[in-house]
Amino acid sequence: MSLPQDRADVLILGSGIAGLYTALSCHGLGRVTLLTKGKLSQSSTELAQGGIAAAVGPGDSPLFHFADTVAAGDGLCREEAVRVLVEEGPDTVRRLMELGVRFEAGLGREAAHSRRRILHWADITGDEIRRGLETALRALGSVSIREGHFAWDLVIVKGRCIGVTALDERDEPYVLLARATVIATGGAGQLYLYNTNPEVATGDGIAMAYRAGAWLEDMEFIQFHPTAFCSPEGGCFLISEALRGEGAVIVNRRGERFLFRYHPAAELAPRDVVARALFREMRETGEPVYLDLRPVEGLLRRFPHISERLRSQGLDPEKELIPVTPAAHYLMGGVKTDLDGYTGIPGLYACGEAACTGVHGANRLASNSLLEGAVFGARIARTLERSLPPPLPSFSLPQWRLPRIRLQVRKAVRVRKIWRRLQEIMWEKVGLERVGRELGEAWEEMRSLRASLGTPETREEKELENLLTVARVVARAAFIREESRGAHFRKDFPRRDDARWLRHLAHRRGRVIEG
Ligand code: FAD
Ligand code: SIN
Repeated sequence: MSLPQDRADVLILGSGIAGLYTALSCHGLGRVTLLTKGKLSQSSTELAQGGIAAAVGPGDSPLFHFADTVAAGDGLCREEAVRVLVEEGPDTVRRLMELGVRFEAGLGREAAHSRRRILHWADITGDEIRRGLETALRALGSVSIREGHFAWDLVIVKGRCIGVTALDERDEPYVLLARATVIATGGAGQLYLYNTNPEVATGDGIAMAYRAGAWLEDMEFIQFHPTAFCSPEGGCFLISEALRGEGAVIVNRRGERFLFRYHPAAELAPRDVVARALFREMRETGEPVYLDLRPVEGLLRRFPHISERLRSQGLDPEKELIPVTPAAHYLMGGVKTDLDGYTGIPGLYACGEAACTGVHGANRLASNSLLEGAVFGARIARTLERSLPPPLPSFSLPQWRLPRIRLQVRKAVRVRKIWRRLQEIMWEKVGLERVGRELGEAWEEMRSLRASLGTPETREEKELENLLTVARVVARAAFIREESRGAHFRKDFPRRDDARWLRHLAHRRGRVIEG
């Protein structure tokens, strides 16, 4: 059976800030198509609370933003990428506003930022960014938006990426050919039992690129957010760091602040330090830790959404302490790209959380991620404007077959069991604190989970295959890096070792290089 084919000039995978902003910036480049596997609004972008960082405040400068980003990155930021981010940041947020995204007048503050520089819309900045960009994109009318379309794999012919195989909203497979394909599929928070991410964050684009022969970089660096609220029924939601910027404090059961024992900046120390401090405190005392939101002035006005979510869980943030736990939040690594989003595979680009430009180093500075998606998405568009890859010759495509989705209950149950086990392994052995022996065990166990999955036939199975692919690269990278730096902490190598490890680890199928 040969599959139905469709064509685009530029194909964008994903509808977070990276995908939407790239699509808007590619307007005018011929037929632009955007695929997203759920509803357009299902993304990490939609859930972003704190805001987007840019040096636009009085007394601020890209130089200060640069210094804060590099300090948080713990020696591993690619400085040329950080320079691009902070210098193009102010114009990028102005462009977002021109497109219709609203930000409040006052700037917020977050941990490890030396200035107030967080543009935000109450505590639902991501929802506002999505709303503004979606409205602008739909008004343009020239971009074909396909919701519910699942990108299955990249199509590589003679070393060039010529599009994807995909399932449409009825799970019918087809091939979408494109002169340029942009991966903007976000991160892989669903690797972990406790995470702040949406269900769609299953590392699909990263795994796809890896299968296609692209390099992945900095995969050992997973950021854990210190303050998630995880309800007893399961499911976690984020309690923004911006609250600590406005005076919220972290305390133990007796109401005592303990973070000064870990870092002089206490609640405003870099995220990796705070997350590990909470994790240790919980483990050593066997007791929960809490966020005290009562010192925050105008809590309900400034953080209405978070307050409401807590109320719906029966907690009154104006009166009582909120139990919190660290949770997996962000992947610093991803598909390695240059400063223009190019992956090294002709025709293939990546931006946003799926990509690794090196701006975040070993630990991302809060609110730099939304900015990264927009800044580097626009750079891909500018590159394509200068040199869109040539039209596709007529290829004879390899046969690509996919059985119709078969919702067999037994199979779905098995997939969920494997998925859950993977999340447990990642949390227990590839989490906030790691040890070489356990990383090795985790890798082996994942290998057998992968074998028991077999050949994926449904979306869920494909997502699980993608997670297993990403998980094994994360575990391998964490095993190889025998030091502690940023978000990567090895109990058996607790010190940062610049002499040996001031370098990045890059992985391609069957190969690892240090550079
Ligand atoms: P996403 O926004 O995750 O979008 C990825 C898109 O790809 C989704 O639409 C998804 O459905 C689609 N997709 C995935 N796989 C496929 C596939 N196979 N086929 C088709 N489509 C696919 N960062 C900040 O800078 N500031 C913040 O305040 C902030 N708060 C955050 C709060 C939360 C709760 C979370 C989870 C993250 C937060 N972050 C924040 C991080 C930031 O939101 C993300 O890193 C950023 O939004 C990623 O944008 P993106 O466009 O790369 O990916
Ligand atoms: C938050 O609001 O705490 C999240 C900010 C971020 O992840 O950048």
